[in-house]
Amino acid sequence: MKLLHVVGARPNFPKLAPVYRAASAANLEQVVLHTGQHYDEQMSGSFFRDLGLPSPDINLEVGSGSHAAQTAAIIQRSEAVLLEQRPDWLVVYGDVNSTMATAIVAAKIGIRVAHVEAGLRSGDRSMPEEINRIITDRLATLLLTPSTDAGETLRAEGEPSEEIVFVGNVMIDTLFASLPRAVASGFAQTIGADGNHVVVTLHRPSNVDDPARLAALVDELQHIAQHRHVFFPAHPRTRARLADSGISVNQGITMMDPIGYHDMLDLVRGAHCVVTDSGGLQEETTALGVPCFTLRPNTERPITITEGTNTLVLDLGKLGGLVRAATRPSSPRRPEGWDGHAGERIVAALIAHG
Ligand code: UD1
Repeated sequence: MKLLHVVGARPNFPKLAPVYRAASAANLEQVVLHTGQHYDEQMSGSFFRDLGLPSPDINLEVGSGSHAAQTAAIIQRSEAVLLEQRPDWLVVYGDVNSTMATAIVAAKIGIRVAHVEAGLRSGDRSMPEEINRIITDRLATLLLTPSTDAGETLRAEGEPSEEIVFVGNVMIDTLFASLPRAVASGFAQTIGADGNHVVVTLHRPSNVDDPARLAALVDELQHIAQHRHVFFPAHPRTRARLADSGISVNQGITMMDPIGYHDMLDLVRGAHCVVTDSGGLQEETTALGVPCFTLRPNTERPITITEGTNTLVLDLGKLGGLVRAATRPSSPRRPEGWDGHAGERIVAALIAHG
């Protein structure tokens, strides 16, 4: 059996690693296609090294652009690759433009699509990721779900039960496998993170593209930084928006370039709490038992609220009080299937449905 994995953006890489490892152990033929959606060393190359992944076999080098331009470039450039490679499965991950674009190409030339992280919905179609999730799930014929609620969503949307397989959360496989190296990195100590610190990441257009919203967020973080050291590894988009809007970040907040997977894990595992709009961090903090405040009106990962440490913050004025009152659960509850073995279950499902 031959798998063609598609990755493109930072959150895809930790999802690929456990599936790649499990498929290697099962002696499957594998090709890794990187679309080049993310291309900076800190957004891509360092992740392949940290995660022990081989360099991609093919890189489409599409780079940045509007949604239409980026999606179109991926569609156009991936078609020849898929026709030449003719895998038994196109395996796509998450909800980025690369996921949806290649699923469209494969579906039209008769290559079956397996979607890792199927069935997540925020219910908010103003998010580009929500469109990507819906289209990818409609086209995939193997829907590999990270949590039981995702399967219920897919069934309610009319997906046939035999196409839905609950495999658990592959991000958490990578988290568990990487913890020893993250701890050994000593990164948090090196930068003076003492356990009383707050880790911030923001990159969603809804938070960073509106200068007034971004200024209000930074203002709130500045208040938090009067009591706790705030570490803010910033996505390139966020850096650019801060510069464009002339918003300055002052004392108590350490702005950083994006950091590698192990360094981030070390910084987050010891934090007082995390303030974010990331999808992956909502899951990682739940698995680590670290309080997480998500600056969004909704989440496609509600299980991190009902069974984890995540809280949606709708009223920005409440963030300071929430951060002050944050406490860790005495023992983190982990949702079913967040056990470090999702990669093996995914490969078993690919073989069983092959
Ligand atoms: C993408 C995903 C988002 C994911 C995020 C993680 C989509 C629709 N969005 O958003 O779901 O949470 O990745 O990071 O696929 N840039 C660089 N260097 C890079 C990559 C991007 O400087 O290596 C800058 C460019 O200015 C670019 C901007 O970031 O225009 C946005 O990149 P893009 O890939 O379009 O979307 P993300 O916001 O990263």
